[in-house]
Amino acid sequence: MATGYKMPKGFLWGGAVAAHQLEGGWQEGGKGVSIADVMTAGRNGVPRKVTDGVKPGEIYPNHWGNDFYHRYPEDDQLFEEMGFKCFRTSIAWTRIFPNGDEEEPNEAGLKFYDDLFDDLLAHHIQPVITLSHFEIPYHLVKEYGGFGNRKMIDFFVHFAKTVFKRYKNKVKYWMTFNEINNQTAWSDPHPLLQNSGLELGKDDNWEQAMYQAAHYELVASALTVQAGHAINPDFQIGCMIAMCPIYPLTAKPSDVMMAERAMQKRYWFGDVHCQGEYPKWLPKYFERKGFDMDITAADLATLKAGTVDYVGFSYYMSFVTKGKDGDTDYDFKEPDDFVENPYVEKSDWGWQIDPTGLRYAMNWMQDRWHLPQFIVENGFGAYDKKEADGSVHDDYRISYFHDHIKAMEEAVALDGVDLIGYTPWGCIDLVSASTGEMAKRYGFIYVDADDNGQGSFDRSKKDSFDWYKKVIASNGEDL
Ligand code: BG6
Repeated sequence: MATGYKMPKGFLWGGAVAAHQLEGGWQEGGKGVSIADVMTAGRNGVPRKVTDGVKPGEIYPNHWGNDFYHRYPEDDQLFEEMGFKCFRTSIAWTRIFPNGDEEEPNEAGLKFYDDLFDDLLAHHIQPVITLSHFEIPYHLVKEYGGFGNRKMIDFFVHFAKTVFKRYKNKVKYWMTFNEINNQTAWSDPHPLLQNSGLELGKDDNWEQAMYQAAHYELVASALTVQAGHAINPDFQIGCMIAMCPIYPLTAKPSDVMMAERAMQKRYWFGDVHCQGEYPKWLPKYFERKGFDMDITAADLATLKAGTVDYVGFSYYMSFVTKGKDGDTDYDFKEPDDFVENPYVEKSDWGWQIDPTGLRYAMNWMQDRWHLPQFIVENGFGAYDKKEADGSVHDDYRISYFHDHIKAMEEAVALDGVDLIGYTPWGCIDLVSASTGEMAKRYGFIYVDADDNGQGSFDRSKKDSFDWYKKVIASNGEDL
């Protein structure tokens, strides 16, 4: 039954993953160690540990992922069967530059992505590529302190130019830093490590370090956009923002002001990416906090000259905050200043389920940044049960997607949002970024592997596979 709207012609339906969460093959083809390779397995409610190098006796799930490195031809086949027009993954920086600071790239790593992209294209699926998705070379973390160091700008731009030149005829859509704005919140493991390669504890003065690292990343991103357009003027190079709108708990003016500041603190990254300028409130905040920032006039000119072509974003959930009596600074701190939303349900991992929040966010971004949008992650992490006959009845996932795709289609059809495509996260089961589990499954395709890397790694279709296939075949009309 037709319950949705048809998407515009050429709409990019697909799926999304990241290299470190599914490839495995962590030491194959000359690959170096990345920050993801020193993160152990956690569990629901138990954070992952970050070890000082790879230690015997620890479990590192990213070392095997879902074995995509060896099985991608079978997976590409399944993606084509679902009707994918595009497939979002990342290029593992450590396959191309194992340590990150080499002059010459690793040919075996470049060849792996040539083969992968050729195979995808042969299946009529275009690759959509993230350059840095939580997989900074570990050597750059230890030797340079990650993006706390200005030298990282050059290493990143060199990596970006190398892959831009190599794949200029195979990839059109690129993104620079995955969920660059996640590091604004403290969680374990801290996104500041995953995003920027900084090893700081919660008690360290991490906030200034975060703003500084983000600044260097934004400069690196702007230089990358300029370099990419020079290499191929048809490239579309986007940012990637973790979009979780933050609502005020009530209409009380201090709740509304606190929510406004919360949105500013989470989305200033997008202001710089899209408009090439720091928003006015932020230098005032640096001043008030006594943050001594290394931001030069040349950096500001670079930011202005390297704005992105589109807004790539993930959407999983929304948040809520409230003001504090007598507080006029509104120094919102994430996640401490979040409160429960009494109106929405949650997943088993406590992620709030709010499809209307997606439509709200798309409108908010359209009014603020005036750029095409690309939903490059959305999905439902859940415990799946494989039946004796091999089937997985994931009606909860279908229901999540139904409601979110409907909200997305309303934003396009009724609100005029210019949307390029939609790539649900973890279209095939993979290792969770926050917990390191396989048990937190997102896929339309089930992978027979457990949290310790035991299992056949065989692939099979869940009920959601045929459901999503039908959605794509009807271009979004049949939900
Ligand atoms: C985003 C990341 O935060 O959400 C992905 O870009 C991640 O890498 C996804 O996997 C889902 O989060 P999690 O922690 O459930 O894997």
